Amino acid sequence: METLLVVAAAETPVYRARFAQAMPDLHVVGTDEGFDPAAVDYVAGWHAAPGLFATLPGLRAVFALGAGVDALLARDDLPASLPLVRLLDAGMAEQMVEYALFGALTWQRRVHDYDLQQRHRLWRKQPPRTRGETAIGVLGLGSLGGAVAGELARFGYPVTGWSRRPREVDGVRCLHGDDGLVQLLGETDVLVNLLPSTPQTRGLLDRHRLGLLRPGAYLVQASRGDQFDHAALVDLIDDGCLGGALLDVFEREPLPTDSPLWTHPRIRITPHVAATTLVEPAVQQIADNIRRLRGGEPLQGVVDRRQDY
Ligand code: NAP
Ligand code: GLV
Repeated sequence: METLLVVAAAETPVYRARFAQAMPDLHVVGTDEGFDPAAVDYVAGWHAAPGLFATLPGLRAVFALGAGVDALLARDDLPASLPLVRLLDAGMAEQMVEYALFGALTWQRRVHDYDLQQRHRLWRKQPPRTRGETAIGVLGLGSLGGAVAGELARFGYPVTGWSRRPREVDGVRCLHGDDGLVQLLGETDVLVNLLPSTPQTRGLLDRHRLGLLRPGAYLVQASRGDQFDHAALVDLIDDGCLGGALLDVFEREPLPTDSPLWTHPRIRITPHVAATTLVEPAVQQIADNIRRLRGGEPLQGVVDRRQDY
């Protein structure tokens, strides 16, 4: 019988039980109990102890319990020849749509302006903004960015998306390449970043590129925290060039308590919860991939090691 090792920190018992139920023909073990490393065929998880994969000589595939695999790719114990498989949507796209919509509405309905007024008991009407005049830019048009761009367009926002290769998303103007990025930034009021963290995207939203956004624009940062310049963001907001930000991800997580981002009146912080992995769809997707592997069929969501996502 094949063995699946679950590595999911405090959630290990929950995933272990659910995998065992979904695949009765699989021996499911967790890192929270004794197991024979030589017997492990598959790993499902994240935050595996350093060096763990090197101790599993029979490992045939690693299934990430998430969409982004930057942390797994940064390890030195995961050979490039081993299939690394990530989750495709698995219930995260609709959560990300909600998060992006929350960001778009925060800017459109001037939530930060009214929050500041409320602190001063100030009753003052600001000029209204319509959806039609709120230009959304979405960086990344994959499983999550594609859904976000399409749903925000259906909601009535003019949406422009940007990807590495040319893409088509219903109702969305799709751009690619360096010129496409410059064009998107210059025409965007609300920027939603859903790019994976790769050598090409780390530091992408630097002072110069953030400065290309429309005056008073808003950043929704929901992918990874190493893609934007924290200090430049604060400076640009303080200078009035940007209107604020909704930030879910940070270079250091948890965000250090002394970070100025915590207390900035035009920055809203959430603790990496824009889209959480849901047990049921994650287990179903991984179980389906294990069946595919057994049947010699192509796996869904294999990470392209040349592109790092
Ligand atoms: P995905 O399906 O791999 O999509 C990635 C998109 O980014 C694709 O459209 C890709 O272009 C584009 N892209 C990649 N590198 C690029 C580059 N150098 N230039 C331009 N476009 C580039 O990923 P996903 O499933 O949508 O997830 C996106 C990210 O969201 C994850 O990597 C993770 O970091 C983050 N995430 C965050 C949370 C949270 O709770 N905060 C939850 C889940 C995921 P192509 O279409 O041309 O390939
Ligand atoms: C969460 O950030 C994920 O990548 O799934």
